[in-house]
Amino acid sequence: MSGEVTLSVIKADIGGWVGHSRIHPALQERAVEVLRDAQAQGLLVDFHVTAAGDDLQLIMTHRRGDDNPDIHGLAWRAFEAATEVARELKLYGAGQDLISDAFAGNIRGMGPGVAEMTFVERASEPVIIFMADKTSAGAWNLPLYRMFADPFNTAGLVISPSMHQGFRFEVHDVKEHRRIFFDCPEEMYDLLVFIGAPARFAVKRVFSRATGEIAAVSSTERLSLIAGRYVGKDDPVMIVRAQSQFPAVGEILEPFAFPHIVEGWMRGSHHGPLMPVAAREGNPTRFDGPPRVIALGFQVAEGRLVGPVDMFDDPAFDEARRRAAQVAEYLRRHGPFEPHRLPLEEMEYTTMPDVMKRLAERWEPVA
Ligand code: F6R
Ligand code: MG
Ligand code: MG
Repeated sequence: MSGEVTLSVIKADIGGWVGHSRIHPALQERAVEVLRDAQAQGLLVDFHVTAAGDDLQLIMTHRRGDDNPDIHGLAWRAFEAATEVARELKLYGAGQDLISDAFAGNIRGMGPGVAEMTFVERASEPVIIFMADKTSAGAWNLPLYRMFADPFNTAGLVISPSMHQGFRFEVHDVKEHRRIFFDCPEEMYDLLVFIGAPARFAVKRVFSRATGEIAAVSSTERLSLIAGRYVGKDDPVMIVRAQSQFPAVGEILEPFAFPHIVEGWMRGSHHGPLMPVAAREGNPTRFDGPPRVIALGFQVAEGRLVGPVDMFDDPAFDEARRRAAQVAEYLRRHGPFEPHRLPLEEMEYTTMPDVMKRLAERWEPVA
């Protein structure tokens, strides 16, 4: 694997402080201890531990490739160790995302969310890692479309020779567990048929058509679909490579200047705006929200993570935050009515079906 580096972002909600609002620093410290040991033993090249709302985020570089059992096992151990701390502090929902009892080789399908990519490091390798709380996998569809297929967002699609050929999108059907590829710009209308329905279809990866290299990867785990019942939301993460044959840093951040509406928020059952915030502000409060996204930038240097730089910690995004707060207020006024509350089909993994079942006998036919 020499010459290639793998960037793995693995996250889990293993206990909130207070309620579902943020991660207690002691959990991060515990995870750092576990990862530092792994680095000393040569398993990791580098790592950074952070939090987005009530999700603990492990950002790791190594030489073992995607889906490596040692790396996934390490993440699982870090989450288990931090869960012990969460239990001692009686944090809320301690261990909530560790829905399997024992690690069995791959962390996918066991609760945590995973975004990983393996690539040959360029002469300079800027990457941005997006981490959201109180929303789900499809939340990245609109920004990924804008970054990699919309010339009104990404000037490079028009004027950069290295991007003019466009990008290939890998789309996952999260319910049927199947995938399809679309080449843009030719197939952008076909692409939009599917990714415009982000509860069902999520962009998993994007590739450069000029070089075939991976440009972006997201986590597409849907906890609710894994567990078959509501066990919390699958707050998603995403890695995007920047500059040169990929969109510029500013083209990657640009879609978040529009706080688009995503599903999640209170009880994972509402629509709300995705507010771009500095990492220190990534802690949902109002009505357990509104949904938030943080963005950390790194230069990867021989696998070392040179950073983080807190990309949304910038007054240029103040207006997006203000609009998000206004949209949050407007939607909140709908209370329990759609479209603030999710449509019934999307509520099937909440506690709503129990209420419906209880009332089933009381329905009478109408002549
Ligand atoms: C949404 C979320 C919170 C909880 C809500 C109720 O993703 O995590 O909005 O759903 O606080 O939580 P419980 O049912 O744990 O009391
Ligand atoms: Mg939580
Ligand atoms: Mg969360």
